Amino acid sequence: MLRGRSLSVTSLGGLPRWEAGLPVENLLLFEVSWEVTNKVGGIYTVIQTKAKTTADEWGDNYFLIGPYFEHNMKTQVEQCEPVNDAVRRAMDTMNKHGCQVRFGRWLIEGSPYVVLFDIGYSAWNLDKWKGDLWEACSVGIPYHDQEANDMLIFGSLTAWFLKEVTDHADGRHVIVQFHEWQAGIGLILSRARKLPIATVFTTHATLLGRYLCAANIDFYNHLDKFNIDKEAGERQIYHRYCMERASVHCAHVFTTVSEITAIEAEHMLKRKPDVVTPNGLNVKKFSAVHEFQNLHAMYKARIQEFVRGHFYGHLDFDLEKTLFLFIAGRYEFSNKGADIFLESLSRLNFLLRMHKSDVTVVVFFIMPAKTNNFNVETLKGQAVRKQLWDTAHSVKEKFGKKLYDALLRGEIPDMNNILDRDDMTIMKRAIFSTQRQSLPPVTTHNMIDDSTDPILSTIRRIGLFNSRTDRVKIFFLFQLILHPEFLSSTSPLLPMDYEEFVRGCHLGVFPSYYEPWGYTPAECTVMGIPSVTTNLSGFGCFMQEHVADPTAYGIYIVDRRFCSPDDSCNQLTQFLYGFCKQSRRQRIIQRNRTERLSDLLDWRYLGRYYQHARHLTLSRAFPEKFHMEPTSPPTTEGFKYPRPPSVPPSPSGSQGSSPQSSDAEDDDEDERYDEEEEAERDRLNIKSPFSLSHVSRGKKKQHGEYKN
Ligand code: UDP
Ligand code: G6P
Ligand code: GLC
Repeated sequence: MLRGRSLSVTSLGGLPRWEAGLPVENLLLFEVSWEVTNKVGGIYTVIQTKAKTTADEWGDNYFLIGPYFEHNMKTQVEQCEPVNDAVRRAMDTMNKHGCQVRFGRWLIEGSPYVVLFDIGYSAWNLDKWKGDLWEACSVGIPYHDQEANDMLIFGSLTAWFLKEVTDHADGRHVIVQFHEWQAGIGLILSRARKLPIATVFTTHATLLGRYLCAANIDFYNHLDKFNIDKEAGERQIYHRYCMERASVHCAHVFTTVSEITAIEAEHMLKRKPDVVTPNGLNVKKFSAVHEFQNLHAMYKARIQEFVRGHFYGHLDFDLEKTLFLFIAGRYEFSNKGADIFLESLSRLNFLLRMHKSDVTVVVFFIMPAKTNNFNVETLKGQAVRKQLWDTAHSVKEKFGKKLYDALLRGEIPDMNNILDRDDMTIMKRAIFSTQRQSLPPVTTHNMIDDSTDPILSTIRRIGLFNSRTDRVKIFFLFQLILHPEFLSSTSPLLPMDYEEFVRGCHLGVFPSYYEPWGYTPAECTVMGIPSVTTNLSGFGCFMQEHVADPTAYGIYIVDRRFCSPDDSCNQLTQFLYGFCKQSRRQRIIQRNRTERLSDLLDWRYLGRYYQHARHLTLSRAFPEKFHMEPTSPPTTEGFKYPRPPSVPPSPSGSQGSSPQSSDAEDDDEDERYDEEEEAERDRLNIKSPFSLSHVSRGKKKQHGEYKN
């Protein structure tokens, strides 16, 4: 618990109360990350989704620091002048000395201020800054590592900026939170120069952890056995590793995003994190409880259209009995679990065929890779579909007009003659155009590394080529660019953005081996889409801790920690097969349950851990001013979701956890009614964080009160 002359903070469950207790008007808060306005992966999501809660608490005293890229600035930032005197003076000084520092409001919820440094513009200073870093911590950066050199420029500019700010801060205390090694040099230099700032360093992954796992090493069973200097040296990342480790040890407070990464950090970086700050989302509730179900149906229809085109001439499966599964994220084949997913799909295909299932599974791999454009077959598929649609439409128009005229004359038209020879010809020609000699392609793009690409190589090995008999159809939707959206509403193939696509799918599959948090399944959850995760991902462990029977809520957690890869594959196959056996009614019930977990992932709840880190760093950096009484270390035990009442008490993870229903595809309205009743019962049982008295400023909000 923090106490300062102007502080009155009460403790709750080992955590200080919301920032209301801090005199934020006498403080400045900066967060530094390479992903501010710059989408690379999940760190962007952390910063972008958290902005609203933090801006609500800190108002004009909150600033994000990131790199300047012209495109990002033009599309995401509204340039303006800083009101804060210290920030304005710092920028003026730097701009006068040959830097280019931009300022504006990031056009996201919360519209936080951003300070962006033009890295290229300051490259002239690189050699001098290499010398400064060497002096500060004896770390040298090889000239060929351009990314690390960019980080040096970014860090040097950050430290310079913070020096100028603290020189003009007028008695205000400054907190700076640095995210990931890319931002670390700013922290190292600030500390070496003894700037009066309270620092937090947050790691979202460790460099070595990511590398070692990608090399298929049995990482978690050997955590204490690695010769880490040697491993870093062999992978030619020793200098990066030194920057990362120095950042961790320079920080007043060290945090990470999950318990599992905390253990990893202790071994790889030799410091136990002070606080675990689980990643949240900016959860929005619709006023109509079932709106997310309607959205699922709407976006699913768009995906179905795409599939109609892609599989033209091979559409001998029922789209109403077709399930859409997907995996998405950066292209790290084994770290993201694409390897075991493909293997499980092959087993699933076998099971579905053996049991003569009428369900078809269409699987999307959404990962960025090097391509040189869409392949012709894929584009042709969409063109053929469009042609069929146009043909059907024009025949329908003619038919409708003839029917109307006949009715006006008081006649029922002769149905045998209502279509003339021309209509028949057009329709026959349209059907002819759907003939194809080849199977529907497994990839949407021409791959540059086609023969060595790990996904394509595995597809070839397991032989899933979209043949008619396959019940599992695959395609790899490569993305040309990772930035700013992997999927885009302007794509000629599948014009949907990522969120729309997720909503339209039935199941997200993320069987990662290395995943400090893993936003993709968390995002599925708040959209009410079930997902597969693992007990090696921060998100999976967090759900295991808070939800009594995650499977019942549509969170399938594969054990990748305590069993062999083959057993993990079997378990994943069973999950997928069980999912395929559910009726529509069961899927609807399960989606409702999944969506009910959203509160748990809301920054309005999880933001408390960031606050705790800020309180802690203030008490460590300025102990004479801010005092923190020893409290028990914060835990993430906020609340727990019990097993849904309608689930029989069977072992977790078994089929018994699936929603109960008859086999029939019942009427949707009845399903909603049943499910609403169940939801009400559950709500009475669930200890939601928002029913606790420690809710932040403002009144307690009711479920469903937040509108989009
Ligand atoms: N993402 C996206 N478009 C896509 C696929 C993923 O915007 O086509 C986003 C996704 O919404 C998530 C982030 O990329 O917020 C990936 O974060 P995660 O923590 O899952 O993985 P990371 O890339 O950080 O390892
Ligand atoms: C939502 C819609 C229903 C629709 C259902 C399809 O619940 O509100 O109208 O029938 O989705 O579910 P499915 O799992 O078959 O895509
Ligand atoms: C990293 C991790 C990912 C995590 C993200 C945000 O990129 O790989 O698991 O979700 O950071 O913390």
